[in-house]
Amino acid sequence: MPPHRRRAHTRTRDLERYAGLFAERTGVMRSSAMRDLMAVTARPEVISLAGGLPDTSTFPAKSFAAQMTRIAQESAAEALQYGPTEGFDETVDCILQVMGAEGMLPDPQDVIVTTGGQQAIDLIGKTLIDPGDVVICEAPTYPGAVPVFCSYQADVVQVECDEEGMRIEDLEAVLAELDAAGRRPKFVYSVPTFQNPAGVTMSLQRRNRLVELARSREMLVVEDNPYGLLRFGGEPLPPLYQLDGGDFVLYVGTFSKILSPGIRLGWAVAPPPVMEKIVLGKQAADLCTSTLTQYFVREYFAEGRWLDYVESLCDIYRRRRDAMLAALAEHFPAGASWTEPEGGLFIWATLPEFIDTGDLLARALRDDVAFVPGGAAYVGDRGRNSMRLNFSGVGDEEIREGVRRIGKVIAEQIDLYGALTGDHPTVEAAAAPEENVLPFRKAAEGE
Ligand SMILES: Cc1ncc(COP(=O)(O)O)c(C=O)c1O
Repeated sequence: MPPHRRRAHTRTRDLERYAGLFAERTGVMRSSAMRDLMAVTARPEVISLAGGLPDTSTFPAKSFAAQMTRIAQESAAEALQYGPTEGFDETVDCILQVMGAEGMLPDPQDVIVTTGGQQAIDLIGKTLIDPGDVVICEAPTYPGAVPVFCSYQADVVQVECDEEGMRIEDLEAVLAELDAAGRRPKFVYSVPTFQNPAGVTMSLQRRNRLVELARSREMLVVEDNPYGLLRFGGEPLPPLYQLDGGDFVLYVGTFSKILSPGIRLGWAVAPPPVMEKIVLGKQAADLCTSTLTQYFVREYFAEGRWLDYVESLCDIYRRRRDAMLAALAEHFPAGASWTEPEGGLFIWATLPEFIDTGDLLARALRDDVAFVPGGAAYVGDRGRNSMRLNFSGVGDEEIREGVRRIGKVIAEQIDLYGALTGDHPTVEAAAAPEENVLPFRKAAEGE
């Protein structure tokens, strides 16, 4: 049989034929900007500071081979079989170890193993969101969450972040407005620790206040915490889940950033009535999470060195973050500013207001460098002069070169703006506008 060929282009006539069949929700589905970008940045010559890729080249190939060989020799039939929808008890034991390392102690019955944290977000959306429901998230928010909430036709409201994470006072104001309109948000979605995309961490005071609000209003909060263990500075803070005890905080975790995203293993933690519905949703979605990769995690954790590997990742990422901060100070122009994360994978940079990072990306790609334009982290037309930069996926040298190239393209844009408008922005004029509450380190100050 000849190999199956993918059709290169969908013809307009085909589109018309199918369009009448699409569900209404497809009209509000959004593409994940990161997925689109990954296709463009796959060219080997491109230095990609766009993805959220952990450096999987650091995982010892020999151990991987030994673990998979043991599975093949000792439990091939089971590892190749379907498994329970909730996941294996042994996987849940590994999850309890990971959560325990951050001070959390959930009931194993409240945990479901999912196909990545992304599926956990999707299942929570599927369980809780009706069309038109309000979901509150941070501004900026995890770009991969926006398409999920949109696909369930949520009305997404964003609450501004600063260097201490989501501004809880602003959240209270939003809640009061919603109260006045007779609307109750389905949940607040937050990445409180080393946030994707901004790299910021919610302060303890705000964490406590958010949990208090959740309790007093009986409002659910979804804490998405892929990066909590990737801390390279400062003191650990208790997760929202720990502060709340799991009554109103639903938790999303993942092995992607502490082990591998390729194994697609994550989890959700929720109280029994919510979990019951999440399990039904998961059954309908994919029956169960990969048995094979759950076996791999079980083997890997049995060796008892998973935290050593996380520590080794922290050492590497700390160095890369420092390389990126130094390169930003050297190559980004006056008027640019950026966050200084104490962990995680991302720095968020804000540029002079007249620069559109979507346009800038098109120009940067011609110089073989990529980043995520800030607009991907907002619903609606905001964040256009900001960008997310990843420092975990490439080495120090590429980080320096990538930032140098982006800096050069920004400088060109500033010159072009000056030539077109006759306005040659000074440091003050070029500075990010007041409403950009995130930046707190400015190139011009030369710190
Ligand atoms: C905040 C956040 N949540 C969820 C995910 C999804 O991760 P995964 O599905 O690989 O567990 C990511 C990935 O980058 C993320 O940054």
